[in-house]
Amino acid sequence: MEFIDEALIEYAIKNSTDESDLLKDLRKQTNQKILHPRMLSSTIQGRFLSFISKLVQPQNILEIGTYTGYGTLCLSEGLVENGQIDTIEINEELLEFQNYFFKKSKIRKKITQHIGSALSVINKLNKKFDIVFLDADKSNYINYMELIIPKLKTGGLLISDNVLWSGKVLKKAKKKDLDTITLKKFNAVLKSHPNLETVLLPIRDGLSLSRKI
Ligand SMILES: C[S@@+](CC[C@H](N)C(=O)[O-])C[C@H]1O[C@@H](n2cnc3c(N)ncnc32)[C@H](O)[C@@H]1O
Repeated sequence: MEFIDEALIEYAIKNSTDESDLLKDLRKQTNQKILHPRMLSSTIQGRFLSFISKLVQPQNILEIGTYTGYGTLCLSEGLVENGQIDTIEINEELLEFQNYFFKKSKIRKKITQHIGSALSVINKLNKKFDIVFLDADKSNYINYMELIIPKLKTGGLLISDNVLWSGKVLKKAKKKDLDTITLKKFNAVLKSHPNLETVLLPIRDGLSLSRKI
């Protein structure tokens, strides 16, 4: 869901720095060949992730939910020379598509793909991260947050996507709608967490930035 007018989004894209041709091609091929292309980060969100990453200059990034690798490549744009991004995806059928684009990028060696359930993969990662991008499996957002906070460096950023959930967070959630129930709780937990300073941005489907203090 887009919260602002299509024409204004086009205007914002036109007046922002362009994404690379590789990212344009990735977007195009995701739309043509892959199921659920709506899961792809939008162009503006991609430029935003890249911008934030360039400000932070991270050594280590973790992405939860690789999908076709668009967010991975955008976030990687800010990595320092010997920086690394770990990205987790449960659907192994996406590996071939990801690899095609990762190999074409100049930063193939900086990307480590993990295939499996994020809950089990995160537990095994023995690293501290400067940026974590949470973008999969909404019903486990609070569980991911609890696992991630100890692995975030002080001053590190947790970026959480879809926190407005197409506006459903404003309504009473149905009993079986675990995603909405969890997202509403998650937003409240982020707001009141003693170790986090959070700003919820109404970019696309809602993007929260939480800084570990
Ligand atoms: C919204 S997409 C990610 C989009 C990507 N980050 C981007 O910026 O384009 C979410 C992805 O998370 C994956 N996923 C869902 N549940 C998962 C889980 N439990 N562990 C790891 N990945 C999961 C889905 O298969 C899907 O590819």
